[in-house]
Amino acid sequence: MTDLFSPVTVGTLDLPNRIAIAPMCQYSANDGSATDWHLFHWTNLGLSGAGMVTVEMTNVERRGRISHGCHGLYSDANEDAAKRALIAAKRVANPGTVFGAQLAHAGRKASCRRPWEGGGPLMPDEDPWQTVSASALPFDTDWHTPRALTEAEILKTIEKFAEAARRAERAGFDFVELHGAHGYLLHQFISPLSNHRTDDWGGPLENRMRLAVEVAKAVRKAAPGLMLGARLSVKDWVDGGLTEEESVEVAKALEAAGVSYICCSSGGNSPKQRIPAGPGYQVHLAEYVKKHVGIPVRAVGMIDQPRQADDIIRQGRADIVAIGRAVLADPHWPWRAAAALGHEMPVAKQYERAAHLPAGWEKAA
Ligand SMILES: Cc1cc2nc3c(=O)[nH]c(=O)nc-3n(C[C@H](O)[C@H](O)[C@H](O)COP(=O)(O)O)c2cc1C
Repeated sequence: MTDLFSPVTVGTLDLPNRIAIAPMCQYSANDGSATDWHLFHWTNLGLSGAGMVTVEMTNVERRGRISHGCHGLYSDANEDAAKRALIAAKRVANPGTVFGAQLAHAGRKASCRRPWEGGGPLMPDEDPWQTVSASALPFDTDWHTPRALTEAEILKTIEKFAEAARRAERAGFDFVELHGAHGYLLHQFISPLSNHRTDDWGGPLENRMRLAVEVAKAVRKAAPGLMLGARLSVKDWVDGGLTEEESVEVAKALEAAGVSYICCSSGGNSPKQRIPAGPGYQVHLAEYVKKHVGIPVRAVGMIDQPRQADDIIRQGRADIVAIGRAVLADPHWPWRAAAALGHEMPVAKQYERAAHLPAGWEKAA
């Protein structure tokens, strides 16, 4: 029976297990360039034993960053810094672990403070910048009002995703994931809440999803050696917002454009959202999308117990589970999962003398 530790093939990549690390911004880059924090963090994630490590939202242009500290792949310096951190991470990672960058543009949610600086839009004395989006609609009152991208700028943005994918490939990533979720630029185009355009890039779903689909095609062409995935906010959780039925159409179009997996998240595009958050609260969205596509589907969101993760896979509700905060709290979460589920997990030989401990903790718990 397929379980959390069964290998899985995603596009061109063979993953040793079905545990992914969810992309998580570290707000610790220097003009988009990975720093020693990233070197440590990516190395740590590589040692975790997860089959798939999706490093943080990686912005394709400077103005696409959420904050001054966000990671990017828009310059030679960014590419060199990512390569340095990745070489170290891959050198120590468990055999078979693959690394991906989540390519993104924050659009109208750019020019914000780091979370530990209070989040929200940068103030005039904090070096803010003009944000852009599908339409000139701010995320919320008191947020920056974005400028609607012209068609020429949209085409340029697609090229920036392609260029960042080329950089990702040269830096040594194994895959890239398009960030079509959480109210960032691709989601801003897909959702009717934030896209009020009347040209070919707005209106019916086919037009609203055009940017995401064109980005997927451009990335596929620019970096043929990389596996390509996508993360979607499958629903906005707001009346009149994006629905799961629409997202299935987006997922199908992305599959046709060469995307090899879909990660199913939700929300992030409106302060009016009402999300019934709780353990596994988005898994039903993955399950729904999975019924309509032929590529692997990844579930995410408050999946932090090994048996919970294993059940999702065993019940066929998703093909991969992504773990976020639980891995920050316990970077060896996959070891614990292996102990709880009775699997042998290969660990770095330097750590072998500790590998038996989680099994004892699981028995004691
Ligand atoms: C510190 C932090 C940073 C995050 N950054 C990103 C990101 O860069 N891209 C993204 O798609 N989601 C991001 N997320 C959302 C996570 O990927 C994940 O979907 C969310 O935390 C729910 O999973 P969890 O309950 O396992 O943490 C972030 C979450 C946290 C806690």
